[in-house]
Amino acid sequence: MRTEQPPVIRLADYKRPDFLIPTTELTFDLAPTATRVKARLTLQRQGAADAPLVLMGERLKLISVAIDGQAVTDYTVTDETLTIAAVPDRFVLDTEIEINPSDNKTLEGLYMSSGRYCSQCEAEGFRKITYYLDRPDSMSKYRVRIEAPKAGLPHLLSNGNLIETGELGNGRHFAQWEDPFNKPAYLFALVAGELDVLEDSFTTVSGREVALRIYVDTGMRDRAVYAMDALKRSMRWDEEAYGREYDLDLFMIVAVRDFNFGAMENKGLNIFNASLLLADSTTATDLDYERIESVVAHEYFHNWSGNRVTCRDWFQLCLKEGLTVYRDQGFSADQRGHAVQRIKDVRALRARQFPEDSGPLAHPARPSSYAKIDNFYTATIYEKGAEIVGVLRTIVGADTYRRALDHYFAANDGTAATLEDFVASFSAVTGEDYSGMLDWYTQAGTPQLHIAPSYDSVNQSLTLHLTQATRPTPGQPTKTTLPIPIRLGLLSEAGETLTFNDGQTETLIVLRDASQDMVLNGVAEQPVVSALRHFSAPVILNLDEPENHAFARLKGDPDPFNRWEAAQGLARTILLNPEPAQAQIDAFAAGLKAALIDAALEPAFKALILGLPTESDLAQSILPVDPAFLHASRKRFKAALSVQLKDTLLAQYKIIVTPDTFSPDAQAAGDRAFRNALLDLLLAGHSRADLADDAQMIALAENHFGTATNMTDMVGGLIALMHVQGAPYQAALDAFYARFRHEPLVMDKWFSLQATCPHPDTLARVEALQNHPDFDARTPNRWRALVGGFAANQSVFHNAEGKGYDVLVKQVLMVDTFNPMTAARMIEPLSRFRNYVSPYKDGMQKALETILAQPNLSKNVAELAGKALN
Ligand code: ARG
Ligand code: ZN
Repeated sequence: MRTEQPPVIRLADYKRPDFLIPTTELTFDLAPTATRVKARLTLQRQGAADAPLVLMGERLKLISVAIDGQAVTDYTVTDETLTIAAVPDRFVLDTEIEINPSDNKTLEGLYMSSGRYCSQCEAEGFRKITYYLDRPDSMSKYRVRIEAPKAGLPHLLSNGNLIETGELGNGRHFAQWEDPFNKPAYLFALVAGELDVLEDSFTTVSGREVALRIYVDTGMRDRAVYAMDALKRSMRWDEEAYGREYDLDLFMIVAVRDFNFGAMENKGLNIFNASLLLADSTTATDLDYERIESVVAHEYFHNWSGNRVTCRDWFQLCLKEGLTVYRDQGFSADQRGHAVQRIKDVRALRARQFPEDSGPLAHPARPSSYAKIDNFYTATIYEKGAEIVGVLRTIVGADTYRRALDHYFAANDGTAATLEDFVASFSAVTGEDYSGMLDWYTQAGTPQLHIAPSYDSVNQSLTLHLTQATRPTPGQPTKTTLPIPIRLGLLSEAGETLTFNDGQTETLIVLRDASQDMVLNGVAEQPVVSALRHFSAPVILNLDEPENHAFARLKGDPDPFNRWEAAQGLARTILLNPEPAQAQIDAFAAGLKAALIDAALEPAFKALILGLPTESDLAQSILPVDPAFLHASRKRFKAALSVQLKDTLLAQYKIIVTPDTFSPDAQAAGDRAFRNALLDLLLAGHSRADLADDAQMIALAENHFGTATNMTDMVGGLIALMHVQGAPYQAALDAFYARFRHEPLVMDKWFSLQATCPHPDTLARVEALQNHPDFDARTPNRWRALVGGFAANQSVFHNAEGKGYDVLVKQVLMVDTFNPMTAARMIEPLSRFRNYVSPYKDGMQKALETILAQPNLSKNVAELAGKALN
């Protein structure tokens, strides 16, 4: 028995709402199990004269309805709507409902986290708070009054400006908020509770003073200092890079522990998963700092790309998310270095978006239908969406891009826009037609770019034969061609820059057709092609060339991205070969060594070059996928490099000194990243033939862990000890637990580190950890740490007897009963079953079938499991 596929909503059916809601007044009377919400909406008909009023509402207990002060009893309520058949053209609607926040484990709508009220409305959570036109093109001015007991609820927060606070008697108080900007319901927020606040201020470019407040758990104020610093840098950057100034007198961020995803850009009141806000050196890694910086920026940047200009409907989600990711990536690049940032962003794109784009869940950045929009907060909408903006910018150039964005914000301010509006801004400032760019948004699948160079030594010319093709994806059997910008330069075989045409060193080719020949003249010798520099488009590049050309790029490409890419490609070739030649391995080791000792390269870059392609990365370059082979191959190669490069690795490791005082800045973080990557490779040689050597390495890792003065190095030490297993690994885990057991965010790491350890013992460990007293499936952070970490652990999750899939099925079905949004995120690891060899393939398929056969499955899980099996 299969769960029926849930009904879908289609972009083609879009219709504007029948009513406008110029103003929305909400009054909350907070009580954990019985919160009352009164809503007073002014409504104006804009649709057909006989159109009924249909408001969305879920899990609401309706108390009363009145129109223009008169009680109404003639209405229909279903699980999802409140319908009033005959209403005037202009009227005031009053409703009152009751909800139970303490029982709301969906973490959507109004819920409680650590005794505190908290809301999450994007995408469709507002309908769990009151009956409303809960759709992004329904924008309104909000006034919010919160009434609550003073005890335990000293802070009562909502969007906009605080107008009034006061006493109500009986130990109760209230706060009155007003947001002067029109907004859709998904940007509404409410927080109430006991909180510590870190305060600061920011003077905008036009001289306005903005109060900044970050609210955190009691005692955690010091851990918000970095986020505050990142916020101020973000505010300045958006003024300088995009001319965007903040528009309210107050900007607040609240950190909560129970949250379904990263963070939320509610107007003037961002709400963050605490894991993306709180940091200090002893509890947060450099990666945490980096993510905090980028997410604080992301949510802040939404104030323009998302809030001032919002989305007409959820099909346009990428309009705000793709653009905002592109903006936060630009910010991070300016803060931390363009090349290193680009490599990390591309690595993430390939790890998450490319697999999605080539599997059964593939969808365009603008999907044409969905059952649950929550299932579409994907790497495609976010990361591919960002890449598409980058493609546009590369094609038009930085200055035109800035003018187009200025135009976009000015022309669409205060409205709910579409991707057409975005692309039209580029046409508006250039007079050119960019409609071809819309195909990037509407077509799923990663384009394959093929480059066949041929050199004519007599004429000293190079002809590049360029072709593009995109494979079919579900629902899109035929594909069109896309504008693909290709940044390209040439090198000599010795790795020196080679000029062409008239002394040019780089060119931009935009491939628009299925194939095109491009001729470069004045090429003095057989060139090495360096194409798609800085990863100028999200495509898969196949370049016909002999292997020594990749070595030339690794040695001397002036584009650091392609230098890194060359190393990745060379390593991939070795890793996918069941019997790589020793000469190949030696040549790679020599190339790697040269990069490691090159004083001109930054440590952060060296750390990245040491990171060989991951098992999931490799899984995309081979069919069928045998996870056991990929794991063994990678392990063998790392061990070989470890032994061969030991002296170099050790010497580099010793050069890096840990400064006395911790700084989270990019340079210090780069040093730590490099040192930890060196340690990992040194330990990858375990067990060495030479036992004394081996003992020396184990001691090195134990010492690294034991003397660590920050979380990054502790984690680095633990990861290195994973190669060793046994007593040294267990001792480190136990010490870690003893020290941090009362720190929830660090305990998440403790769970996730164990779940991601690529050792066969991990399966039993994960099975046991499901029953650990500190495991709690109701806290998404903890659940994702264990279950998400495990599902990403290729060689362990893909267990030949299917035991890994059993764990996942059990966990998904359990969490689906109370938090469908979070449960659905774990379907993806099973979705590409067709790519795997037996028995994995059959095990994954069976797991999906078991999930789909479950009665009462949520729409979220049913949609994704159904699509995966189709
Ligand atoms: N807009 C939020 C962010 O980018 C994410 C909201 C996610 N919502 C969801 N239902 N998954 O940053
Ligand atoms: Zn976002």
